[in-house]
Amino acid sequence: NASRSLALAAGLAALLGITQAQAEQIVIKFSHVVADSTPKGQGALMFQKLVKERLGDKVRVEVYPNSSLYGDGKEMEALLLGDVQMLAPSLAKFDKYNKQLQIYDLPFLFKDINAVDRFQHSPEGKQLLTSMQDKGVLGLGYWHNGMKQLSANKKLQDPRDARGLKFRVQSSNVLEEQFKAVRAIPRKMSFSEVYQGLQTGVVNGAENPWSNIYSQKFYEVQDYITESNHGLLDYMLITNAKFWNGLPDDVRSELDDIVEEVTTAVNEEAKQINDSDRQKIIDAGTTTVIQLTPEQRNEWREAMKPVWKEFEGDIGKDLIDAADKSNQ
Ligand code: LMR
Repeated sequence: NASRSLALAAGLAALLGITQAQAEQIVIKFSHVVADSTPKGQGALMFQKLVKERLGDKVRVEVYPNSSLYGDGKEMEALLLGDVQMLAPSLAKFDKYNKQLQIYDLPFLFKDINAVDRFQHSPEGKQLLTSMQDKGVLGLGYWHNGMKQLSANKKLQDPRDARGLKFRVQSSNVLEEQFKAVRAIPRKMSFSEVYQGLQTGVVNGAENPWSNIYSQKFYEVQDYITESNHGLLDYMLITNAKFWNGLPDDVRSELDDIVEEVTTAVNEEAKQINDSDRQKIIDAGTTTVIQLTPEQRNEWREAMKPVWKEFEGDIGKDLIDAADKSNQ
């Protein structure tokens, strides 16, 4: 009878309505390898929060920290396959896609994070964000973590102290050469394996910003940290270009605005997070933090700087000069 079929239709529509809304909801999986408390972790959560506030049910952001969905090595592949939609890999993890990005790994290139900021905002720096579109990767912005510190089970004061020690490096040829330059032994290793690697002695040392040393508890398994500030660990927030360009215009433009807002916030907060994590590490008292004299720091610089020349062909001298200029 009529009323029964009407009720049935309404029920079906309601059922379909839900299914349809779900089907139409855009899902952005954001996968990363660090803790929620780090600059990148905080940025991912802030992005999730603002998208929920401003786009409601239209877009759902799922954040997967700490290599819980994909770790190093697999996350880029997952992005290209459309299994995740956003990542923020360290700039050291792009050399397969654009060798020019190796610039960010050159030791002692940037004197501090403000110089990094100036270069990233320059035309040369910005151009690198869109340089991988032909490979399906679109850069949406740069997120700071901070400068890296050397850690080891041994006091590292001058470059000779590193000889023969095994250091974990990210999957970057520049970073490999950097350690070879001081006659140490680099070992490429996924971020999720570093704690165990240090604990079991597979590697003797590493290089990380304070926020990663603190949140991964590396300071519990390293007796010494040398405040070297010798290199940079920053990120490129990236998405699958086809996914992003295929979004409805209104959604994409709202997301672009959110990305800009979050990027500014991350870059303002990163230094503060690193400073406070540095203090917490000192307060924990499990590690001795070593300061270098200007002369010692200069010895590290002189020992490592030849790496610039090795990669000048890949990166381009003009780009290196532009980055170097940002120190002024
Ligand atoms: C590392 O592998 O050391 C870093 O890239 C981890 C990260 O994302 O900060």
